[in-house]
Amino acid sequence: MTSTPPVREKIVAGDLAEVSLTVNGTEVTLRVPARTHLADALREQLGLTGTHLGCEHGVCGMCTVLVDGDAARACLLFAVQCDGAEVVTVEGLGAADDQHPLQQAFSAHHGLQCGFCTPGMLMSSYDLLAHEPDVDAADLPERMSGVLCRCTGYRGILAAVADVAAEHPDGVPAPMNCAARTLVGRGSGSTTGPAAEEAPETPAEVPAEVRVPTGSPSATVEVTSTLGSPLEDVWRVLEDVPRLVACLPGAELLETLPGDRYRGRAGVSLGPVKLSFAGLAQILERDAGDHRIRLVGQGADTGGSATQADIRLRAEEAPDGGTVLRADADLFLSGRIAQFGRALAGDVSRRLFEQFAVAVDETARTGTAPTVAAAGPSPVRLAVLAAADAFRRTLMRARARLTRRS
Ligand code: FES
Ligand code: FES
Repeated sequence: MTSTPPVREKIVAGDLAEVSLTVNGTEVTLRVPARTHLADALREQLGLTGTHLGCEHGVCGMCTVLVDGDAARACLLFAVQCDGAEVVTVEGLGAADDQHPLQQAFSAHHGLQCGFCTPGMLMSSYDLLAHEPDVDAADLPERMSGVLCRCTGYRGILAAVADVAAEHPDGVPAPMNCAARTLVGRGSGSTTGPAAEEAPETPAEVPAEVRVPTGSPSATVEVTSTLGSPLEDVWRVLEDVPRLVACLPGAELLETLPGDRYRGRAGVSLGPVKLSFAGLAQILERDAGDHRIRLVGQGADTGGSATQADIRLRAEEAPDGGTVLRADADLFLSGRIAQFGRALAGDVSRRLFEQFAVAVDETARTGTAPTVAAAGPSPVRLAVLAAADAFRRTLMRARARLTRRS
């Protein structure tokens, strides 16, 4: 924690307090109710849902994060107490494609079952090995007892920690995924809670600026479609934002703003999860010679989901006189939509771009933007098709396993 003497400041109940933190290497300023604890601020405001909440009484240790280099229970600290502090969460420890040695060891030793305690276990074991690299393996059960595993999978966890301690006698490597990046959560600092969860259909506040996403995306999508329309006709659709948006299933353009920025909304539905995003998009590059467009977008819904996307579209002439349309996108998801999982989010987006390409082709051919309903399957149908993709993948994996065994 910062060594600066605390400044007494009276905050009226209901007012928001401003808190500045460095979280996983990114400086952020939040406006939160004074009674918000650090774990809620991380999860709700910044979308860092890797910090789990179990008891919220300081007993289970699931919420363990590093505050100024020491393990701390994020449910027992008010966010305002952490003003000026450096916080590292499990997301800062390592990335999916570049894991910290502790994460690798947990995986190698099957140190998780449901995984609910895993973020706390990882941050607690990091703290232990960072401060006491020569800890005796025999002492690990007691030294790691600050985090409870409700699946009781302690053997694998302790074996993983013992392994990393043996491999790094001079101290465990520092957190590997700390760098300035965009963090998105509910964002506005407004009061959070169940009421917001119950009203997802009310559009969230539109963010004031478009932030370029950074860090590892939740999913990446690459879709190549061949259209019958000639290149220049397709390009005329792509460079005309109202017509381009009309080609996106479920999307609606509400306002054109200065600086090639656009305000709009979009709906996504998957089973009982229905999300209505209000957001902002900006064209960052538009190259008429190369028929290329890059746009970034961000949106949030009142149920706690947030998305960002960095989308590149490129049209090329096909050998038969048609057009090859390539779309690739990095998607950043947090909140409830992140529960869709990487593969499902990728499938939904892939279907969306496929339908987008069909609608672009139609618009290029007829000169008229299709209505949202005519642009292809509804978001619900997209989700169903994506779920079918996921089911097909599972079936194929099961078949491959059976074939290997027989
Ligand atoms: S949630 Fe913080 S200790 Fe249990
Ligand atoms: S793996 Fe389930 S709580 Fe520990």
